[in-house]
Amino acid sequence: MIWQRFRPSRSSAFLYLYLKMLVPLYSLICAEVHVWYLCPGELNDQSQLEMYKQLLSPAEKEYADSIKETTLRKHAMLSCALKRTTLSRYCKIDPRSFEFMYNNFHKPEILWPSDDIVELPLHFNISHTTSLIACGIAMDANIGIDIEEKKRKTTKSILSLARCFFTPSEAHYLTEISDSYAQEKEFFKLWTLKEAYVKALGLGLSGAPLNEFTINLKTSKGIRVSKASKVCNDSNSGCDRLSENWLFALAKLNSSHYMSVCMEDDTRCQGPENSPAPVGLKVWKTIPFVEDTLVSGTEAVKLIA
Ligand SMILES: *[C@@H]1O[C@H](CO)[C@@H](O)[C@H](O)[C@H]1NC(C)=O
Ligand SMILES: *[C@@H]1O[C@H](CO)[C@@H](O)[C@H](O)[C@H]1NC(C)=O
Ligand SMILES: *[C@@H]1O[C@H](CO)[C@@H](O)[C@H](O)[C@H]1NC(C)=O
Repeated sequence: MIWQRFRPSRSSAFLYLYLKMLVPLYSLICAEVHVWYLCPGELNDQSQLEMYKQLLSPAEKEYADSIKETTLRKHAMLSCALKRTTLSRYCKIDPRSFEFMYNNFHKPEILWPSDDIVELPLHFNISHTTSLIACGIAMDANIGIDIEEKKRKTTKSILSLARCFFTPSEAHYLTEISDSYAQEKEFFKLWTLKEAYVKALGLGLSGAPLNEFTINLKTSKGIRVSKASKVCNDSNSGCDRLSENWLFALAKLNSSHYMSVCMEDDTRCQGPENSPAPVGLKVWKTIPFVEDTLVSGTEAVKLIA
C-alpha cells in the first residue's frame, strides 16, 4: 500500500499507529455521501486528545488554543482532527499533510500540491452541536451538512421564527400543523435542510439568507429546493453554476439529532424516467485511530427522507 504524502514529513508515532490499524481506503460513488461523526463527550483521555491535536496545522492549533472556553476549544480541535482523518481515509494521505484554501465564507477545499499526487475531487463539510461533530464527504459534488439536537428548544414561537427566517410557503406549511410538538419538529427539519443547502453552496447565512429559497419537503422527487433569484445573483462561490439540482437526505442520528445533507445533483447519476438518484447515505461513528463503527442501517441512523 502506498502512503501518499504531500511533502516529506518525519514518520511519527501517530502515523505509525494509523498505518498499523490498516485503515482501509474508502471510496465514494456518485450521489453518495459518507458521514463520519464523533461524540466529544466520550473522548476524555488526555494523551489521545493530545495525539489528535498533533494532526492540526500550526494555524489550526493557534486558532483552537485561542478559544477560552474549554469545551469549545476541545470541539474546535476535534473538528479539525475529524476533518483531517476523514479526508485521509479517501486518499491515504497523512492526515497532517493536508492544506486548505478558503472561499469568502471560509469554506475550506483541499489545496492539492502540483507534484505527483493524484487530485481527487473530494468535497466535505462539518457541523457540530454541543454533543456531536459530523463530517460529510462526497466526490465530484459540492456538499453541505447540518445537525441539530432534537431536544433543542426555541424561546420564541415557532411561527414567529418561521415568518422571520423562512419563506411564506414554508411558514404556511408549518401553520398547517396544529400539534405544537410536531410543528417544532418540522421547523428543525426545515432549518437543518436550509442550513445544509446554504453550506453546500459554500455561502454563509449572510450570503444566502434563509428566506430567499424554499425547501419543499414533500415532492415526487423527495426533498427539493426552489431557487430564489437572489441567491444566485451573488457572484461569489461559483453561484453561476447553481441550479435547483440539489439532492437532500434527512435523518435522525443517534436518536438525539436531526441531520441534513445536501449535495449537488450529478446528471450522470440519473436513474430511469429521468428521476435523480436519491442520496446514498452511509454513516460511521468514529473514534479516530481507535474504532470505526458503520451505523447506517442500525437504530443510530433513521432515514426520514
Ligand atoms: C446518543 O444516544 C444516547 C442514547 O439515546 C444518549 O445517551 C447519548 O447522549 C447520545 N449521544 C449524543 C452525542 O447525543
Ligand atoms: C462548511 O460550510 C460552511 C458554509 O460555506 C463554511 O462556512 C464552513 O467553514 C464549512 N466547514 C467545513 C469544515 O468545511
Ligand atoms: C436577481 O436576478 C433576477 C433575474 O435575473 C432579478 O429579477 C432580480 O432582481 C435580481 N436580484 C438582485 C438582488 O439583484
